[in-house]
Amino acid sequence: MDPSAFFTSSAVHIVAGKGGVGKTTLTAGLGLAAASLGLDVLLVEIEGRGGLPGLFGRNRLHYREETLAQGVRARSLSAEEALVEYLADHGFGPLARRMIDTGLVEVVSRGAPGMKDILLLGKIKQLERAGAADVILVDAPASGHAVTFLRSPRGLLDAVASGPINSQAREVLELLTDAARCQVLLVTTAEETPINELVETAFSLEDEIGLHLGPVLVNGVLPDRHLPADVRRAAKRAGVVLDVGVRRALETASAYVRRRVDAQQSQLSRLDELLPLTRLTVAQRPTAGLAHAHLPALADELLAAIRAA
Ligand SMILES: Nc1ncnc2c1ncn2[C@@H]1O[C@H](COP(=O)(O)OP(=O)(O)OP(=O)(O)O)[C@@H](O)[C@H]1O
Ligand SMILES: [Mg+2]
Repeated sequence: MDPSAFFTSSAVHIVAGKGGVGKTTLTAGLGLAAASLGLDVLLVEIEGRGGLPGLFGRNRLHYREETLAQGVRARSLSAEEALVEYLADHGFGPLARRMIDTGLVEVVSRGAPGMKDILLLGKIKQLERAGAADVILVDAPASGHAVTFLRSPRGLLDAVASGPINSQAREVLELLTDAARCQVLLVTTAEETPINELVETAFSLEDEIGLHLGPVLVNGVLPDRHLPADVRRAAKRAGVVLDVGVRRALETASAYVRRRVDAQQSQLSRLDELLPLTRLTVAQRPTAGLAHAHLPALADELLAAIRAA
């Protein structure tokens, strides 16, 4: 797949998946990858969760956008600020500020499920309509919440028959269900529970909401490179003398890695059977957490995976 075509096939890419599978990390990596192709990228964080700013050496993001790297801008959306902006654009600025200060937004959104979500999605739709960037990458909430989040316009359409909420929900739904404007990139690790959740989320998003699913990103895949099972013989061949303690430790490590690689491979086969989507794999890094310094290599790996897909 041509990477530029991949990134521009939809204006908005929503990166979603189970908690902790690497959504934020891959959103950052994809952003840098798209920017390296000369595309103008906007990263969107929802309600200040997750470590997106940290991956670019920042403490936090704000509602107003800022530049994180060449070609990469980012902003953190909140429902309150989206509402203030919406009302100000419609001539109710001072009133909106008072609504926030008195906690009225909280009351309204608690009373009408999906209100906060529609404010956030409405803002994303507005950014897309305004051509805010060539590529808008949204770091979505974890899967259970992502399904609720993306289902909100349908729920509100059923609940509210007319008026601004109805038209906002309708316009958001038009964005979500138009493959040329929006696609979901689901992220998983090669493990049983995340894959089960991924498959369930995929069917919910596609069948119930009508979202278009892009390739699945499988993160943390161990290289299919086994340590030798017969450590003694391998050491002999290499002309290395191992004492018993080291040899045993290597044998244990070798067996452990082989078991994990095999388990991941069988989960990947299961994923192939359950979900007929293109797969992009990202290798597990031998580090406790990815930081800013790891991003360029991650972006290159993603580009290579897209090219090979
Ligand atoms: N390929 C990888 N190799 C090594 N570590 C990784 C890899 N991908 C992600 N990580 C690490 O795994 C942890 C979880 O990643 P991340 O925060 O991106 O997940 P998430 O899906 O956004 O989590 P949450 O659901 O909490 O928002 C982080 O510490 C991150 O640095
Ligand atoms: Mg995250």
